[in-house]
Amino acid sequence: MVEHGAAPAAADGETRSPRPPAGGLGARLVRRKPVERLVAEGGHGENGTLRRSLGMWQLTMISIGATLGTGIFVVLGEAVPDAGPAVTLSFVLAGLTALFSALSYAELAGTIPVSGSSYSYAYATLGEIVAWVCGWCLILEYGVSVAAVAVGWGEYLNELLDGTIGVTIPDALAAPPGEGGLFNLPALLVVLLAMAFLLGGARESARANTIMVAVKIGALLLFCAVAFTGIRAGNFTPFMPLGMAGVSAAGATLFFSYIGFDAASTAGEEAKDPKRDLPRAIMLSLIIVTALYVLVAAVAVGAQPWRGFEGSEAALAGIMNDVTGQSFWGVLLAAGAVVAIASVILTVLYGQTRILFAMSRDGLVPKVFSRVHPRTGTPRANTLIVSLFCGGLAAAIPLGALADATSIGTLFAFALVNVAVVVLRRTRPEMPRTFRVPLSPLLPAVGFGFCVWMMGSLDAVTWSVFGIWMAVGLVVYFGYGMRRSRLEAAPAQAPAEK
Ligand code: ALA
Repeated sequence: MVEHGAAPAAADGETRSPRPPAGGLGARLVRRKPVERLVAEGGHGENGTLRRSLGMWQLTMISIGATLGTGIFVVLGEAVPDAGPAVTLSFVLAGLTALFSALSYAELAGTIPVSGSSYSYAYATLGEIVAWVCGWCLILEYGVSVAAVAVGWGEYLNELLDGTIGVTIPDALAAPPGEGGLFNLPALLVVLLAMAFLLGGARESARANTIMVAVKIGALLLFCAVAFTGIRAGNFTPFMPLGMAGVSAAGATLFFSYIGFDAASTAGEEAKDPKRDLPRAIMLSLIIVTALYVLVAAVAVGAQPWRGFEGSEAALAGIMNDVTGQSFWGVLLAAGAVVAIASVILTVLYGQTRILFAMSRDGLVPKVFSRVHPRTGTPRANTLIVSLFCGGLAAAIPLGALADATSIGTLFAFALVNVAVVVLRRTRPEMPRTFRVPLSPLLPAVGFGFCVWMMGSLDAVTWSVFGIWMAVGLVVYFGYGMRRSRLEAAPAQAPAEK
């Protein structure tokens, strides 16, 4: 049964003012939402509540679903020429970078188990304007990246169709205007397919995702089993042909393959036991994904001389073909990649809808995003709007530099989470935490440093696009969010805050 009723406005004994607003501009920008209030409002939308249906396993699959995709199937091939066989170390390096931020995510997801992910953590600790900026970055990490990944999915589908039935979707229907086409039909279709699952319900989507994750893990294990027979010891020497500089350059490229481990933190309001399960799901998914990446990379560079990766887009499929001498295996792997990337689209689209749900409940984006459908217990209107927006973006707009800016947006959000975990330890040391980052504030500081370092390694064009994106976000905040914030009508003071 779906319960009805709007979000409880005051759940923490906070002071309420009958007439808005409290304080001047500065006070409005730094106002914070107490953890208790965020948690009490969790699950409540405009007209009903989300259904809690996800267990630890499904949450882990959501994070793996969002993580395992183009990074291993495509980007690995681009990273090997930089690092040689030591690309395995690059994966470990990138995984370590992700690990520090994952620890911070795990602590905050267990302490503030709502659906807004880093946006909500920033709201509780760093104030409204930082939270908004974070939420706006998450639209890059989730919304824009869904569109970009959908475009990549279309290219993989074409390869698969070519390999199986010898037919490809013509350019006119597989590329946006400006890139030689009318619109990108496959990209639109895969987003609409994900939308159909999401409209069916969170549990149904999680089930479909679990099957897709099983298929992609199966495809990668199959690759390992088959390509293992082609390993030649000589391929591992020299192990580090371009030195440590090459290893770290490849590590920065491969960081992309870890983006998504935080996706479980957008499911806080649909998890059965979020305080216990979210930290576990985040850490477990990172461990599983890292182990798979290192294994696949080791087998790949063992089975093919590292120079052979130069210019190869579907490296894993190519290795399968070479080792077996039969194109069937490569096609099978391409099919695995199509399923793998579809599950990234499903879970990342899911994450975007839930982040907007949380932002809408806080009043920073329109209320339609937190309307809950009485039958499915999901934000249906939100799902429709977000899917059509992302699908339209993927189909009609050449994403180019905007897609590159997704990494910077993600790193910015990760950096803020590392700050938020330290701030919450200081302001609310007494709060029960189901998971604690060891050696805080040292490890969050290292996590923050890694994020800033990686952001610094991105090029000037990416920074400019990011700057424009943030400027647009601030216009939206000052024009809409700041005035509509629920803290405007019901300001809050965190109890017992230091
Ligand atoms: N980590 C995701 C991928 O590799 C973004 O596709």
